[in-house]
Amino acid sequence: MDHGPMSLRDKAVLITGGGQGIGSTLVEAFAQAGARVVAADIQEAAVSTLADSLREQGLRVNAAALDVTDEGQIRALSRSLRDSHGGVDVLVNNAALFSTLTMQPFDEIELDVWERVLKVNLTGPFLCAKHFTPVMREKGGGRVINVASGAVTLGRPNYLHYIASKSGLVGMSRSMARELGPYGVTVNAVLPGSVDTGIQRETVTPEAKSRIVAMQCIPRGQVPQDLVGVMLFLASDSSAFITGQSITVDGGATHS
Ligand SMILES: NC(=O)c1ccc[n+]([C@@H]2O[C@H](COP(=O)([O-])OP(=O)(O)OC[C@H]3O[C@@H](n4cnc5c(N)ncnc54)[C@H](O)[C@@H]3O)[C@@H](O)[C@H]2O)c1
Repeated sequence: MDHGPMSLRDKAVLITGGGQGIGSTLVEAFAQAGARVVAADIQEAAVSTLADSLREQGLRVNAAALDVTDEGQIRALSRSLRDSHGGVDVLVNNAALFSTLTMQPFDEIELDVWERVLKVNLTGPFLCAKHFTPVMREKGGGRVINVASGAVTLGRPNYLHYIASKSGLVGMSRSMARELGPYGVTVNAVLPGSVDTGIQRETVTPEAKSRIVAMQCIPRGQVPQDLVGVMLFLASDSSAFITGQSITVDGGATHS
């Protein structure tokens, strides 16, 4: 099925952190929309299993083992995708340290934990953009979609490393949009609310979840599928004049 300017048919899409949670939903959604998807994750077994099962359904998904903090691995993947896919048209920077994070008062965060969160959540997207956008520039167009967080707008307590990293990602999206706009490459940030991915995490207790739902205009729990529409739109030709934006998808919990 082709949706004209909304079509992703034959676009090559790289989704980092594609092995579980929101990333795995996006891998399937982009593939169903006709894209050729590369699902990359530090959890190699998880992306391989996902890619195998989606290929059995006739979808075009390949898996790649990738640590987004390792510039050598990113450079090697960008070279190999240049050969196999003609580079990527869409980069979705979704990988992050998130569900495994512990919430704690900021003055108790150890320096090595702080540095690791910044490295995965901010340096990772920088390195991926650095190596995957040159082909987009050569081709005269492309998309970078950075998965930030609505927590940036809320400023949740006991989460300083995470919020600092995602705030940096929002600023980076704006600045990178200015540099890449002349080449037809757009850079936007998507800010999800609290998304129930089925993965256990310490950061959302049942009480916290009820409080968040009560803040929303649409009072129900958010699911990964709620992000699909905006992601496919931002990846499509229809969004060509939208760049440097932060788009919140949180049922109206916050208004930026
Ligand atoms: N779930 C939510 O409520 C929510 C809300 C706002 C924003 N987000 C953001 O959405 C994205 C996905 O969230 P999620 O809930 O699926 O998170 P998750 O923790 O379940 O999944 C993160 C994925 O990133 C991968 N990853 C971690 N470090 C990596 C590295 N160094 N290199 C490559 N891959 C790595 C993990 O293996 C995992 O597959 C994250 O950027 C997160 O910050 C999530």
